[in-house]
Amino acid sequence: MIRVGIIGYGKMGRTRAAAVAHSGLGRVDAIYDPQANGALEVPGVRWASCEQEILEDPHIDAVFICTPNHRNKPLTVAALNAGKHAFCEKPPAFNASEVEVIMAAERRSGRKLMYGFNHRHHGSIKTIQNLVESGQYGRLLWMRGRYGKSVDQDYFQTWRAKKDLAGGGILIDQGIHMLDLFLLLAGDFDEIQGMVSSLYWGIDGIEDNVFLNLRNRSTGVVASLHSTMTQWRHLFSLEVFLERGYMVLNGLKTQSGTYGDEVLTVARNRTTAPAATWEDEDRTTFHVDTSWNDETQAFLRCVAEDRPVETGSSTDALRVMRIIDAVYRGEHYALKASPSQGTR
Ligand SMILES: NC(=O)c1ccc[n+]([C@@H]2O[C@H](COP(=O)([O-])OP(=O)(O)OC[C@H]3O[C@@H](n4cnc5c(N)ncnc54)[C@H](O)[C@@H]3O)[C@@H](O)[C@H]2O)c1
Repeated sequence: MIRVGIIGYGKMGRTRAAAVAHSGLGRVDAIYDPQANGALEVPGVRWASCEQEILEDPHIDAVFICTPNHRNKPLTVAALNAGKHAFCEKPPAFNASEVEVIMAAERRSGRKLMYGFNHRHHGSIKTIQNLVESGQYGRLLWMRGRYGKSVDQDYFQTWRAKKDLAGGGILIDQGIHMLDLFLLLAGDFDEIQGMVSSLYWGIDGIEDNVFLNLRNRSTGVVASLHSTMTQWRHLFSLEVFLERGYMVLNGLKTQSGTYGDEVLTVARNRTTAPAATWEDEDRTTFHVDTSWNDETQAFLRCVAEDRPVETGSSTDALRVMRIIDAVYRGEHYALKASPSQGTR
């Protein structure tokens, strides 16, 4: 059994605790959260009095970091330096150079490091990834993602509305997941145009809308993202178009249930007229969100079997943060060569 410590026991800390218990591979030994003292829901778990108590506990093998964003980078580095395997929620850090510091600590430690890009583990996304990688629909041409939510005044009382705690607004909070999916499917992007707006909520450094265009100059794949917190309802939509067909995912099965049913439409385009019709489309509804259990299990399996982290790795984290960096710096530009693994 892998012995786990959790730092931060809000929504995600609880979600990960349940997933560790479900995995059959790990056991939560200790939790630290400055707010939730004693409110333990996990039987047999010790309540730590500070982060350090978890990091220095020789019995703990792996640490889950589920704190407000500003603690993600320092705690990941500290956990790796303490010889622990680390699983950290997104965002990995506030910028790409911080991810490079984390990667240096990862290399020195020889421990596993995985990031909580849980959307990769949704059933619909795995289906899309398999179809794209199978090559049966030809080359990937373009993707269009819309990810939106509605927030109220209460949101602005939380750490998410404070630049020094969150690192940014809707892009680093939610749009990061759609960007990560673009990267999963397209490999990488080296051309970026971004536009950031704070028109409605008007909080400095906490943007409420981002429009983003991306291109991979070696494959020609283009993608566009609209990430917004002025959608006035929750919305998730990912369209993936290839030479010989398409996949359209509308809705996402989540804990809140507010993004609607996770419905994946797949169709092959016709090579002769007329164009594809609704009848050509196959629709599948994914009724269960297995992403948290699958992702947590994937991490624990890498630890148990000493296998490399293949999805949600620090390289994936670096790629997404390079794009977010460019957008936040207001740079519309071509990125330099990407980290290893090349492009698809
Ligand atoms: N789909 C996803 O992947 C997803 C979804 C939601 C949140 N997240 C990420 O997970 C992390 C946690 O988000 P959340 O929604 O659980 O937030 P939350 O506000 O529900 O919980 C954060 C918890 O951390 C605690 N905390 C604050 N400072 C701490 C410290 N120094 N040490 C330990 N604990 C501390 C707070 O008391 C709180 O209980 C964030 O990085 C967020 O971006 C990821």
